[in-house]
Amino acid sequence: MAQFVPADPFDLVIFGGTGDLSQRKLLPALFHRDRDGQFSDGSRIFAVSRGGMAQEEFIGLVRQALARKLHADEFDGATWQRFSRRLFHYRLDVTTADGWDGLGAALKQEPDHIRVFYLATLPSLYGASAGNLARAGLIDSRSRIVLEKPIGADYASARAINDDVCRVFHESQVYRIDHYLGKETVQNLAALRFANSLFEPLWRHAAVDHVQITVAEDLGTGNRAGFYERTGALRDMVQNHMLQLLCLVAMEPPLSLDHEELRNEKIKVLKALRPITPDTVKQVTVRGQYVAGAVGGELVKGYREELEQDGPSDTETFVAIKAEIDNWRWADTPFYLRTGKRLPRKASEIVLQFRPVAHSIFPEDSGDLVPNRLVIRLQPNEGVQLGIVTKEPGPGSFRLRSLPLNLSFTETYPLRYPDAYERLLMEVLRGNPALFMHREEVERAWQWIDGIIESWRDRRMKTQDYVAGTWGPTDSVRLLDRDGREWRNPSEE
Ligand code: BG6
Repeated sequence: MAQFVPADPFDLVIFGGTGDLSQRKLLPALFHRDRDGQFSDGSRIFAVSRGGMAQEEFIGLVRQALARKLHADEFDGATWQRFSRRLFHYRLDVTTADGWDGLGAALKQEPDHIRVFYLATLPSLYGASAGNLARAGLIDSRSRIVLEKPIGADYASARAINDDVCRVFHESQVYRIDHYLGKETVQNLAALRFANSLFEPLWRHAAVDHVQITVAEDLGTGNRAGFYERTGALRDMVQNHMLQLLCLVAMEPPLSLDHEELRNEKIKVLKALRPITPDTVKQVTVRGQYVAGAVGGELVKGYREELEQDGPSDTETFVAIKAEIDNWRWADTPFYLRTGKRLPRKASEIVLQFRPVAHSIFPEDSGDLVPNRLVIRLQPNEGVQLGIVTKEPGPGSFRLRSLPLNLSFTETYPLRYPDAYERLLMEVLRGNPALFMHREEVERAWQWIDGIIESWRDRRMKTQDYVAGTWGPTDSVRLLDRDGREWRNPSEE
């Protein structure tokens, strides 16, 4: 049984507190944690926005956001009474030095509370916001700042943001969110790798032919098309979520789960990523953009129609990459990464494809001597599946068949899977940085991504159309086919 220990009394200030992230993720996550008794008496939540709003109106907005997000049996009146008393709305433009008096006075009423400043705003405002927090005299040695991704749009802008923020906060006070690190199944990767002695001897190039990481989404870009047009799948998903997954699969065993140990191992992987250059970019990357099609039996628009933009767009909504890690463990074992919008279903999984047996002792007609495969399903149907070759029972000739050894977390633990933000917010409040990104991780990841973007530009590599509801452009299939391999597409079961 999970044990719930309350966090020390805190004041959490959310800039962009009435925005989309706040309504969809942060406030529902905070409600759940309060419901489980993790907030001490007197802890407060301040939502700050530029447009003013009366306190009652704000409380109504939160109530509606919870109604949209929570199941009826997750909402209870007693928790709401307690939770709503913690909520305060302030009108403030975080980018200006004026107008901080009200918030400042409220925070100073509780000097012993831990102060957490959550920037759910545009990344371009992070630097100015940190500066104004300092000018308003609101930062002490126990204060923390939380930065949402994306941290910048390339290496230079990420560095500038980190420099600005770190002029005011010590690196140990900065919590950079990649919400994938808060997902239960992503954390379970550490248990799978380091709590089972079975895998470690095999977790390397000698046994693993290649690794596939797929993060597929069935949704399109919807009302985020404007943001997405400036961003694209490489920056939106690969720079952060996918490289974090790659690091967790590829890293050496850390000495402990201590944040510095974990981070050092992840940084070593990022350093070992082979740069992608104009000479290699066409062989090792694929860019795609969806056109109208059908997803889950429903007709959907193409990306350009969603964007409602005159003229062409060359933003990728799909990307596939053959990544090579130049170190002893992974030499000659590529990591194929693939992510996209409007694919057939929402599914994220990691596949370790093992090498074939060294020599077959079976007659040629004995069926499939399929190499073993370990599939780690991150979402949905969280679990692990290992393909094992067996003999089909019965008389007659020897027939081989690969069968799945299937572990379903959702069946084994029929619990509510907490949203990643619930864990991440608690880790910030408790001051545990292990699930957050150090500035060096962010900057190294950008350096590798910048190399790809520059190479695309250099080679004028355009997006290829793919029909919504398919697994991406044909070049994605070719990317593996060229190496005599093929993608495993997450199935519906
Ligand atoms: C976000 C991206 O970081 O992750 C979105 O900006 C994407 O474009 C989302 O849809 C996917 O997250 P999840 O948790 O739904 O897999």
